[in-house]
Amino acid sequence: MKQGYFVTGTDTGVGKTLIAAALIHKFAQSGLGSVGMKPVAAGARLAGECLLNEDVEQLIGAGNVEALLALVNPYVFEPPIAPHIAARQVGVDISIGTIEAAFKSLGELADVVIVEGAGGFLVPLGDTEDMADLASLLSLPVILVVGMRLGCLNHALLTVEAIRSRGLRLAGWVANSLEPGMTNFNENLAGLRQRIDAPCLGVVPWISGAGYQQAADYIERPGSR
Ligand SMILES: Nc1ncnc2c1ncn2[C@@H]1O[C@H](COP(=O)(O)OP(=O)(O)OP(=O)(O)O)[C@@H](O)[C@H]1O
Ligand SMILES: [Mg+2]
Repeated sequence: MKQGYFVTGTDTGVGKTLIAAALIHKFAQSGLGSVGMKPVAAGARLAGECLLNEDVEQLIGAGNVEALLALVNPYVFEPPIAPHIAARQVGVDISIGTIEAAFKSLGELADVVIVEGAGGFLVPLGDTEDMADLASLLSLPVILVVGMRLGCLNHALLTVEAIRSRGLRLAGWVANSLEPGMTNFNENLAGLRQRIDAPCLGVVPWISGAGYQQAADYIERPGSR
């Protein structure tokens, strides 16, 4: 593996999968072997013998490296609820060590591994650990997806503080539109630019159908400046 990134967001449903898939696509287009990883997914349908989560399907669709589903998505739970609650309901302990091993295996297969968190940065994984612990264990630079809606400035700045307090590097952030015409979009964007001390990797408009290839046109690869 040459590069890896941990994609987090200001909340659930803010476009982490869209932006992660767009990044995977961009790296693949640049000639690198690129794969996505969703370590913990809650909300899945039965496909044959396996539980398949939609985010996982999208990340796989955007990549150009084949990998076992168990590596791309080590933990999957059927109900679309908080992962630690879903895990407890079926008596599973989410082990970040197991996730780290899967990540390392993916790193042997691909040049770039893009890891999508679940929900926001501090989502619990169990009684003691959370997503931020996982990002720390994997030592990955973080990309923050800011879902552009009322309240995003506060959520973005809280998340940036949390990333930095774990000693992690914020490789960049993406402003992602969640509706066609957000009121005061430019003012909110300016507020984010002014306060986040990391490169803005892109401003993604609302895209009908939310295709990752289209979204990729609006973002740059981290470290490309
Ligand atoms: N720029 C956009 N234009 C149009 N639709 C978007 C855009 N970004 C996200 N969406 C839509 O918003 C929804 C949430 O996006 P997405 O699944 O990428 O969020 P997420 O942060 O990965 O959510 P989760 O926390 O469930 O993993 C999806 O239906 C997606 O298609
Ligand atoms: Mg997602």
